[in-house]
Amino acid sequence: MKPNLITTVAALFATLALAACGGGAKQQDPSCNQTQTQQTMELKPVTERVQMGAKTYVTPQPALMIATYDAEGTPNVMMAAWGGQCDGNKVCFCLSTHKTTDNLRLNQAFTLSYADARTIAESDYFGIESGNKTNKVAAAGFTATPSQNVKAPIIDQYPLAMECRVVEMRNDADGGAFVVGEIVGAVADPAILTPEGKIDIRKLNPVAWDAASLNYFTLGDSVGQAWHSGRAVMEK
Ligand SMILES: Cc1cc2nc3c(=O)[nH]c(=O)nc-3n(C[C@H](O)[C@H](O)[C@H](O)COP(=O)(O)O)c2cc1C
Repeated sequence: MKPNLITTVAALFATLALAACGGGAKQQDPSCNQTQTQQTMELKPVTERVQMGAKTYVTPQPALMIATYDAEGTPNVMMAAWGGQCDGNKVCFCLSTHKTTDNLRLNQAFTLSYADARTIAESDYFGIESGNKTNKVAAAGFTATPSQNVKAPIIDQYPLAMECRVVEMRNDADGGAFVVGEIVGAVADPAILTPEGKIDIRKLNPVAWDAASLNYFTLGDSVGQAWHSGRAVMEK
């Protein structure tokens, strides 16, 4: 992963920044009490705070699943946290040398889904094993259906897939690349939609990845409404 992406990408999960604990992590990880802790937290003056050094502290990050075809038409999927939305209809990533990176160069297309609590074991596996070694989709017991819009697979076990064509691929000297994809379509399972046909985030149940503890977290409750909660301050 490349350090510059942290400053380049407005993460898809920026709007979902209130990550809370879920699943098995709840019992083990002390940071799981963070919402409760924050309510009673008193901040020290800046002069009394801890000097953390010039490192990236962007967290949470999205747990995005990039699905591609190789030259033989075998579907592959990898996890990417260093990515997000970078325009109204565009997503971007910072990728190292991977089978996925090669597949993107080959087909100039991918689909993008979210890791969720239900698929966390398989999704993490897609982030630690390479498609250069094994057919990961088959090994995980997952299946794929060709996208109607781009030359890329849709992983059947993820309920939402954005279908993207590569519009920019800035290769780096190490074989990695900064990739920009234009979303040309999206396919959603009705099970994750509201009666009005919008994405229901509770049903999608995407996980966020915490770069500090290296845990995956599900989302907590809504604590405010965008472009609305701030009015209380305006009207003070
Ligand atoms: C939480 C997590 C986040 C990751 N984020 C990225 C990323 O943003 N960019 C990247 O190049 N690799 C990232 N990886 C590593 C790739 O997913 C991993 O190397 C994978 O095996 C590549 O698969 P492939 O060779 O089949 O394409 C991440 C892995 C994990 C577990």
